[in-house]
Amino acid sequence: MKIRTGTLAKLKSEGKRFAALTSYDALTAQIFDEAGIEVLLVGDSAGNVVLGHTTTVPVTLEEMIPFGRAVVSGVKSALVVVDLPFGSYEISDEQALQSSIKVMKETGADAVKLEGPRYSQVKALTGAGIPVMGHLGFTPQSVNQLSGFKVQGRGSAGEQLAQECLALQEAGVFAIVLEMVPAVLAASITETLTVPTIGIGAGSDCDGQILVWTDMAGLGEKAPSFVKKFAELRTILSSAASQYRHEVATGAFPEQERDFS
Ligand code: KIV
Repeated sequence: MKIRTGTLAKLKSEGKRFAALTSYDALTAQIFDEAGIEVLLVGDSAGNVVLGHTTTVPVTLEEMIPFGRAVVSGVKSALVVVDLPFGSYEISDEQALQSSIKVMKETGADAVKLEGPRYSQVKALTGAGIPVMGHLGFTPQSVNQLSGFKVQGRGSAGEQLAQECLALQEAGVFAIVLEMVPAVLAASITETLTVPTIGIGAGSDCDGQILVWTDMAGLGEKAPSFVKKFAELRTILSSAASQYRHEVATGAFPEQERDFS
């Protein structure tokens, strides 16, 4: 069954949690989709994970398109959301519309995601029939303004964040990612909102959880402290590569009896 934005709303209304992962290619998209992951985010974390940047700031809209198209091609059920990268939506509603229309037409994604309290852009996009996921708390595209990777919404800043969530919901988002927000605040926002929250480093009371897949699977070199590694893929892959190299060097691979020439 295809997951739609309405499916997430229904899960929230039934008190059921859902899982989201990032994906940037057809192979992992297919694996995660078959595992039942409800939401696949073609995150601009592709900038760090795939393209080797230290932040998501350099990622361009043109770079996101092939990632989005690949993920859509691997998916049967999951809701596919493509990140609008930094510089592709902040200038005006028109810019946000042009970028999102390009994403929707050229990737076949189900929705876009944008960072920050961009109410006007969200209204313009949803008015044009494009579902939008919001993203508040720590917003990686603003890492320079936020002076690094820091928890957001502590103390009196919590009330402002809660108000921004309500205003984003009012503007029309179908879900909001809460990144690096105190668990108590995320729980209270989740209770207040009618749209689902998706936490990352925001405690256990959000309606859904999201992780960067390479962090979740232990493939990345280092991961934020809130991440749980559900596998040790870096160790497994490294050991397979070393074994392969060893067997090529010693002549153990390919085996002579399996010579197809
Ligand atoms: O780009 C991304 O991977 C994200 C998640 C961390 C939510 O925005």
